[in-house]
Amino acid sequence: MEPETILIRGSRIVDPSRQLDRVGDLLLGGGEILAAGRLGRDRVPDGCRVINGAGLVASPGFIDLHCHLREPGFEYKETIAAGSRAGAKGGFTTLCCMPNTDPPIDNAAVVDFIHQRARHDSLVRILPIGCVTKGRKGHELAEMEELASAGVVAFSDDGDPVYDANLMRLALTYSSDLGLAISNHCQDRSLSCNGVMAEGSVATHLGLAGIPAAAEEAMIARDIALAEATGGRLHVAHLSTAGSVPLVREAKQRGLSVTAEVCPHHLTITDQWVLGDKGEPNTVAGGRAYDTSTKVYPPLRAQRDVDALIEGLADGTIDCIATDHAPHDLTSKQVTYEDAAFGISVLETALGSLLQLVHSRKLSMGAMVDRLTTGPARVLGESYADLASMQSGSPADIVLFDPSQEWTVDTSEFESKGRNTPLEGSVLKGRVVATFASGRLVYQGPELKIEEPQASP
Ligand code: NCD
Repeated sequence: MEPETILIRGSRIVDPSRQLDRVGDLLLGGGEILAAGRLGRDRVPDGCRVINGAGLVASPGFIDLHCHLREPGFEYKETIAAGSRAGAKGGFTTLCCMPNTDPPIDNAAVVDFIHQRARHDSLVRILPIGCVTKGRKGHELAEMEELASAGVVAFSDDGDPVYDANLMRLALTYSSDLGLAISNHCQDRSLSCNGVMAEGSVATHLGLAGIPAAAEEAMIARDIALAEATGGRLHVAHLSTAGSVPLVREAKQRGLSVTAEVCPHHLTITDQWVLGDKGEPNTVAGGRAYDTSTKVYPPLRAQRDVDALIEGLADGTIDCIATDHAPHDLTSKQVTYEDAAFGISVLETALGSLLQLVHSRKLSMGAMVDRLTTGPARVLGESYADLASMQSGSPADIVLFDPSQEWTVDTSEFESKGRNTPLEGSVLKGRVVATFASGRLVYQGPELKIEEPQASP
């Protein structure tokens, strides 16, 4: 599939890298953005296909700093091929995949394998994240320099925290030399114990073991102290509690190199969903208690947590939205709540979920796009800035979406192998219409109309 020359006419161009939000045209060619702005008919090259972008938003393709593509080792849950199709359908043109694979991404050979697989199978850019510790076992540091040379874009033992504070301290020390962040899954296991959902009245009502907010906050506080001591680059993965937000806010105010991400589900749904009470918005399917698709780490929390996370996202304390797309096979979820795997399949519902915040005016369209593009690009580093820009010369990684199209989540239509989402049957407002990765049309919704070039007279 070659990159083609495409003109997208009259869409709302939202490019937070240049504080741009206005109606205009976009010309893509040779895999790059050739022009963005008002283009007269005479500027349309011969043989160019044209998309009518009226009513659609065009923005840089989304960058996901945190997803699980499960390859190598768990291809029955997801593959790079299926995950990339899910990403493209969700508007993501860059996916950073976590290393809790089998074998884990803790040496250059596994990084090379992922790069090779991505070259053959993926529709979008795949950037691997390397382990902090060998085998993700938490006992000794992985060869971070080898991993960096092989091309990892960050380090994480995600799925598990870097529990040993001294190893975290060393990893943070190396992170500044390597110029790559340490993304920590903050969970103090001596506090979370055997918890399966958020601690609180819902957990008590259901008789399920709760995970206290302090399990997250204690480790974030520790990591901030270590980032301060070492000058290292800390990225806090999947923030979920109201108390985590001021910790990150204050660290930033002190000038520390601390960034943070939040997931769509933690911004839009609460632990009431574990009870089966899905409430608003727009739920058509009746909920049921103990639905294992609501089991995720960190757990769904209370409305006050959701409100604080939205506030932190809106004011820039939280740099980016990451999906934590965690696809699972049916048997990992068709068990009791206690035994079910943690994780939600998110790539294909992320935009529709997040637009609820825009429609309800809790977040501006510009801020939402910023946190899905320039925010994550900043965490990746300077050399990734053009992935989040629509300036001419940037790679033509573009998403075109209809913010007002309503649709019902039907997991049988998912590209992802993971059908594990509590949003099954929910009505979302806003959907991707087309995704271009390096100028190639990698996803095309049924409503996309492309005018073929006029034959020359
Ligand atoms: C993740 C997974 O399935 O890999 N699950 C999740 O609920 N986020 C791992 C993890 O972060 O626990």
